[in-house]
Amino acid sequence: MGKLNVTLCGIPLDNPVIPASGTFGYGYEFAELYDINLLGTFSFKGTTREPRYGNPLPRIAECTAGIVNSIGLQNPGVDKVIAEELPKLKKVFHKPVMANVSGFSAEEYVEVIEKLEGEEQIGWYEVNISCPNVKKGGASFGMTPEGAETVTKAVKAVTKKPCIMKLTPNVTDIVSIAKACECAGADGVSLINTMYGMRIDLKTKKPVIANRMGGYSGPATFPVALRMVYQVYEAVKIPIVGIGGVSSAEDAVEMMLAGATAVGVGAANCVDPWASKKIVEDLPRVMEKYGIGSLGDIVGGAH
Ligand code: FUM
Repeated sequence: MGKLNVTLCGIPLDNPVIPASGTFGYGYEFAELYDINLLGTFSFKGTTREPRYGNPLPRIAECTAGIVNSIGLQNPGVDKVIAEELPKLKKVFHKPVMANVSGFSAEEYVEVIEKLEGEEQIGWYEVNISCPNVKKGGASFGMTPEGAETVTKAVKAVTKKPCIMKLTPNVTDIVSIAKACECAGADGVSLINTMYGMRIDLKTKKPVIANRMGGYSGPATFPVALRMVYQVYEAVKIPIVGIGGVSSAEDAVEMMLAGATAVGVGAANCVDPWASKKIVEDLPRVMEKYGIGSLGDIVGGAH
């Protein structure tokens, strides 16, 4: 069997498959379905300083090839995550986990990370500067090189753990944002978060989602995400987590050829909760079919 293992920011992964933040809860929910230790790791739900109910309902709209969401960073807040969610995770997951951290100011990202620093199981921070569903903060930091730099410098000043900045595709030039993160000391970038989208209900003739717009994800976004990963790989030296519409082991290999060291699986988990497991299990077949001996060797191979 070919070698599936890769190394992400110095931390070994048994395989590159990482369920994406917001589609995998705090992990233990999926452990009721299968042994989640077969994953490389996963990124837990974007966690903020305060508990958040999120945006008004409805906040999900299904589409032909994906889903528009406007969840609004619903989460129990960092204190409850530490007190209640992570202890449940520890019982069922025995690998380093990726902590997705969200905020409304640079100080808030810092405070959340400072609180999470005592959690040994956290291997990486995925710093979400790309949430499209909140008015303040969120994606606004990821929309300019200056904003991305500010948050990157702030979080890097308070932790030695790798910080992977999660980028929005809703910009003219994602490469300039990735470069700003790298220059400010980021250890990696993950891309892409969701693309702005909406649906209109033909019966009410009004937007389906209460917040009108949301973030679109799913298989239709895959070629866009792949293109952005390809472009960012040419511009930075730090590792990339490639996310966006990945639904199969073939997609995962394509992402790695474009330049991803590891691959996020998002909307696919909402369609089929076993999707990430199936991708891990199907990788050896796809590697054999395409003559790939080691996944680590193909990163950026399409360049
Ligand atoms: O609205 C949300 O909770 C989504 C977050 C994100 O896309 O980063």
